[in-house]
Amino acid sequence: MFKNTLYFDVSDTPKIEELWNKISVEKTSKAVGYYNLPAEGEKLLLDIGVWGAGIRNVENIVVIGVGGSSLGTKALYSMLYHEKKASTPNLYFLENIDSVTIKKTLKSIKLDNSLFLLVSKSGTTLDTISIAKIVMVHFGIFPGDKYFGKYFAVVTDSGSALNKFANEYGLKSFFIPKNVGGRFSVLSATGVVPLTLCGIDTAKLLQGAAECQDDFFSRKISDTLIKKSLAYTVKSGQNINVLFSYSDIFRDFNAWYVQLWAESLGKKKGDERVGLTPVGLIGAIDQHSFLQLIIDGPKDKSVTFIRVENMTEDMPIPDISLKFLEKTNLKKGIGAGQLLNEQAIATMKSVLNEGAITDEIVLAKADAFHAGYLIYYFELLTSLCGLALEINAYNQPGVEVGKKILLDKLGK
Ligand code: PA5
Repeated sequence: MFKNTLYFDVSDTPKIEELWNKISVEKTSKAVGYYNLPAEGEKLLLDIGVWGAGIRNVENIVVIGVGGSSLGTKALYSMLYHEKKASTPNLYFLENIDSVTIKKTLKSIKLDNSLFLLVSKSGTTLDTISIAKIVMVHFGIFPGDKYFGKYFAVVTDSGSALNKFANEYGLKSFFIPKNVGGRFSVLSATGVVPLTLCGIDTAKLLQGAAECQDDFFSRKISDTLIKKSLAYTVKSGQNINVLFSYSDIFRDFNAWYVQLWAESLGKKKGDERVGLTPVGLIGAIDQHSFLQLIIDGPKDKSVTFIRVENMTEDMPIPDISLKFLEKTNLKKGIGAGQLLNEQAIATMKSVLNEGAITDEIVLAKADAFHAGYLIYYFELLTSLCGLALEINAYNQPGVEVGKKILLDKLGK
């Protein structure tokens, strides 16, 4: 069960219909490919299965990639880590060109039991390729060496420079469909390859995404999402969007959402600048931090609460009384997960009292199916906001400018 309850209403039927038509046209046009990723998953899983059966046993999968090439995978790995069997490989990420993290990660793994996945849609991201070079030198394994293809594989666009490199040196290439942008690519080879290799149930993940797609395009949940996007994009609205996620398993999901939202929705529109500012919070920790600003600060924030109804392996809070601390005693049988959920509900009420645009997403369980549903749900919401703002949600010209300045300065 995935339930999204809105505590506000948008009753502008013509606008709802207009947005519904726009997203339907966008999906059918095939210009934006992420909509169809759940259906393409079966073929991809088959390809991974065939290739995976022929590779050596490894204990570590290391994703070398950044932004859309790593954040979604990381989000799902963190959300589903508790489902992973101890016998399946661990997943590491080398995202930042930061020697502290690179050294630490490389120290903790051995070449013999590791597989490095270079993930880059463009195939030429400076950070990613530079990290790959550091890894090669660290382990003394280079293109042209007999066993180079045992240690590296790539996920990229077909025909990219990285794909050509892979072909030259006998590395396996998995492809990201051309019409799927980096930050919308987690349900393609970008996320599905590393997660499958680590034993995450990616078939269920894709099933969850497919169900969200069906629910949306059969109009079962479309109005909820469209109303949210209209509420967020109305001028002079509460355009700082706070995602208050109740569980540590969502920390990386929040980071993925921040990238998806910021890179997709912050754009120039002629002389105008538009954008919705994403903020990711973790409950209950950030109740002791950012919440004060939501409650008493400027009324410029909408808030979405996310929580999991049934926390896996919930721990009971021991029914013992500590001298002088009797005021903290709870009713017998309350679990940590239940306390966390009740904290979310209480905080949501306090936010509602302040008149913020508020909604609540409840996942029955934190499993692969619900994770797939959640990812696809937020991708749809992002597309809808882009359409409501009348901007291109799928490019990132602002990011490209900095990349060019850097290459002009440091490139050979
Ligand atoms: O969403 C995006 O398009 C970006 O965040 C990219 O994913 C990021 O810049 C990395 O690019 P690439 O996958 O080409 O290495």
